[in-house]
Amino acid sequence: MTDEAQNPPEALLDGTVQIRNLSKAFPNVQALTDVSMDIRPGEILAFMGENGAGKSTLLKILNGDYQPDSGTITLDGQRIAFSNPRDAHRAGIRVIYQEPEIIPGVDVAENIWVGELPKRFGLLHRRRMDELVRQNLREYGFEDILPTHLMGDELSSAQRQLVEIMRALKSGVRVLALDEPTSSLTDEEVERLFVLVRRLRDEGVAIIYVSHRINEILRLCDRVAILRDGRLITVKPAAELNESEIVRLMVGRELSDVFQRNRAGAEREVLRVEGLYSNWHDNVSMHINAGEVVGFAGLVGAGRTELAKVIFGEYPRNGGRIYLEGQSVNIRRPDDAISKGIGFAPEDRKREGLVLIRSVLENASLAILKRLSWLHFVRRRLERSIVSGFIERLRVRTPSLEQEAGKLSGGNQQKVVLARWLAAKPKLLILDEPTRGIDVGAKAEIYRLVDDLANEGLAIMFISSELPELLGLADRIYVMQNGRITGELSGASATEEAVLELAMTEKTSTALPGSVTPTLEGSTL
Ligand SMILES: Nc1ncnc2c1ncn2[C@@H]1O[C@H](COP(=O)(O)OP(=O)(O)OP(=O)(O)O)[C@@H](O)[C@H]1O
Ligand SMILES: [Mg+2]
Repeated sequence: MTDEAQNPPEALLDGTVQIRNLSKAFPNVQALTDVSMDIRPGEILAFMGENGAGKSTLLKILNGDYQPDSGTITLDGQRIAFSNPRDAHRAGIRVIYQEPEIIPGVDVAENIWVGELPKRFGLLHRRRMDELVRQNLREYGFEDILPTHLMGDELSSAQRQLVEIMRALKSGVRVLALDEPTSSLTDEEVERLFVLVRRLRDEGVAIIYVSHRINEILRLCDRVAILRDGRLITVKPAAELNESEIVRLMVGRELSDVFQRNRAGAEREVLRVEGLYSNWHDNVSMHINAGEVVGFAGLVGAGRTELAKVIFGEYPRNGGRIYLEGQSVNIRRPDDAISKGIGFAPEDRKREGLVLIRSVLENASLAILKRLSWLHFVRRRLERSIVSGFIERLRVRTPSLEQEAGKLSGGNQQKVVLARWLAAKPKLLILDEPTRGIDVGAKAEIYRLVDDLANEGLAIMFISSELPELLGLADRIYVMQNGRITGELSGASATEEAVLELAMTEKTSTALPGSVTPTLEGSTL
């Protein structure tokens, strides 16, 4: 590290974080190359880039989780280098990851006051701490979170993030980074988060906001930094950018015709669900034909993921019937489902899908192992070629198939789980939010794959909260609300308005407290 970098001539003393010539390599991966940028107080700066571009790595360096190989970071003209997150927090820099680590049994108040409790309070009682926390939460408009709520099970991931932000504020944060904070939030929770983030910006905090959602970035952020392959491509005011410009800068090429839909639409029925009851469902009936992509829309909590899990044998069915290719089937465990030709790529791929310490190859081939095991000796080679084909098509950024899955970037980990199920070639493929956390270029690739698979005769159950992709990709759409199917849309009747009507009206009051959704009495269904 050079002396001139230690005292850069243009050193800013106003709380700006100056990053100069930062590089970081992992074995076989150059994650960051010569990145220089300023992070300014009172500004929301977006980081955008494809999966594996280096966004999280940059945040982890700021947070003291990783150390750079070269380059410098200065704050108020002072060189800073963190050997661990605690150092970073002390300097006022804090990164909130999407799924904050949870210490079991710790409640909201304890979490916010963590580390400070003995010093600030001595023998002081819990009651005072609760009162302060309650005041704090109220001040920022989060009365629904109680100081005594347990961080683990009693809070949603949105609420957990908010508590982490409160905790950062408590310790005088100056630079706050959020890594894909909204990917599992409802629209309402996103709005609440935005209000909070804007307010912190106005109070002079420097905010870094990492997301794949371009419209959110354009709405929220002041400047946008675009990374590609570990290099900073540009930093521009958001006002000078539009969606297609951002995409072009991110992927370095034009993306056209994102949605394909060349399907023949076979009549052969693959899945039929009749009068299904479960702990979550009330008389659900639907069917999916071979060669069909059937979308499932609804608000978070409508019962879509649970329906997938009942079909897959992960959750119990209390009544009704499930038919596969005309045969009534009794699927009690996921193993039954897999052996009957059902594949399921779950929404929470990190927790449910991936063995982080195993290789990319092992993870991606888990589901085809059964199919290939009779050919024991050729298995390895065959497995490799099937898997590597999908890894390539999904543009998974990995140095090799032997890489530990846990060392891939978040989006690339998700692609590995998708590759697994695509490689398994089931009859029925259930995809739950398959593009969550995935960059635009790879999204287009996934849409193309889904289209190809449908053309090859797979029946595809496609659960998504992104209406444009549902409308763009699905042949038909079932809309769910409170564990029921409230309507089926296809062709010209499948519009955003129609989906929202079916997803929100009638029983809305419980789903969206305080919302101003118009009631549509006697709506089309
Ligand atoms: N601990 C690690 N060991 C080895 N390689 C790593 C490690 N952490 C990250 N990488 C690699 O560094 C590169 C950048 O990863 P990073 O997580 O920063 O990407 P990202 O931009 O956050 O992507 P995403 O949008 O998918 O979250 C990737 O190729 C990734 O595989
Ligand atoms: Mg990341």
